[in-house]
Amino acid sequence: MKKVGLLFGMEQTFPPALVEEINRRDQGVAAEFVKIGGVTLESLFEYDVILDRISQDVPFYRAMLKVAALNGVRVVNNPFWWSADDKFFNYAVADKAGIPVPKTVLLPSKNHPPDTTADSFRNLMFPLNWQDIFDYVGFPSYLKPFDGGGWKHVYKVDSIEEFFTAYSETADIVMTLQEGIDFTEYYRCYCIGRKHVHIMPYEPRNAHHLRYKADFAPSPEMLKTLEELCLKICNILGYDFNTIEFAVRDGIPYAIDYMNPAPDAERTSVQEENFQWVLNTTATFLIDLAKQGRQVPTEFHWSNFIGTGGAKKKK
Ligand SMILES: Nc1ncnc2c1ncn2[C@@H]1O[C@H](COP(=O)(O)OP(=O)(O)OP(=O)(O)O)[C@@H](O)[C@H]1O
Ligand SMILES: [Mg+2]
Repeated sequence: MKKVGLLFGMEQTFPPALVEEINRRDQGVAAEFVKIGGVTLESLFEYDVILDRISQDVPFYRAMLKVAALNGVRVVNNPFWWSADDKFFNYAVADKAGIPVPKTVLLPSKNHPPDTTADSFRNLMFPLNWQDIFDYVGFPSYLKPFDGGGWKHVYKVDSIEEFFTAYSETADIVMTLQEGIDFTEYYRCYCIGRKHVHIMPYEPRNAHHLRYKADFAPSPEMLKTLEELCLKICNILGYDFNTIEFAVRDGIPYAIDYMNPAPDAERTSVQEENFQWVLNTTATFLIDLAKQGRQVPTEFHWSNFIGTGGAKKKK
């Protein structure tokens, strides 16, 4: 019997439903919640697959998962890549691969990180070339962390004054300033196993519980484009479980947010139809992975996708 383990945090609905669904299918693969104590160098992990929904918040789990992967456990998502990746790198890779992304600038943190002083920043231009940055990105723009999620520290700024007010609240978080896309449609898409895509109209301007009740109706061409972009992005970055957000302006879908390796899958949030899709597709994917058996991860893929340098075109 192969075994799938689920590692999760505060979620209520998705993990138990997934365990139940995998066990209900009775395909020679059992699922359960992971149980873990102290981890030794010689720890043998009893799981063939672990679905990681929480290591972004629990560093102990991330460290444990890296050793599980070393032992061949198929960890979804790859804990090494998740640790190395960030959203600014994502934008840069996508740009080089010819995927439309908003103009984005990486900014030094407002405050010194703990245990550093002004001397730690002797390489930093001071004052920063702010006017060049504002001219490049324009207004309105979004000031948001280069890593993270849950809309934390995401600010829409309409002017230089608003930018500096927002920036002054960001402490030592590394931020990006990004061109605002004035969209007519917005989509959030699940991509599972780098093969299966589910496109969800999403209205970020609605209250939280109504965001998946959007009435954008994508044309068949738009659906095809979004699906191709999702597959390309997940194959470039090597994520097996991800959501990708697109804001559509003048018919062009701009990839806005696509480093979500533990995306929201709560029934109450994503709504029943989307929940059923993510539940069934994840169950099928994890069962297949468990049947393939253990395997140590191979190298990253993004270097295979880089074109001739999209970033240069914007200069
Ligand atoms: N460049 C942009 N143009 C237009 N809207 C944007 C842009 N960047 C962010 N937004 C808006 O802000 C919201 C939050 O931004 P983003 O998704 O990048 O942050 P997050 O914290 O990663 O969110 P999540 O919880 O989805 O992971 C988006 O859903 C979108 O509505
Ligand atoms: Mg988002």
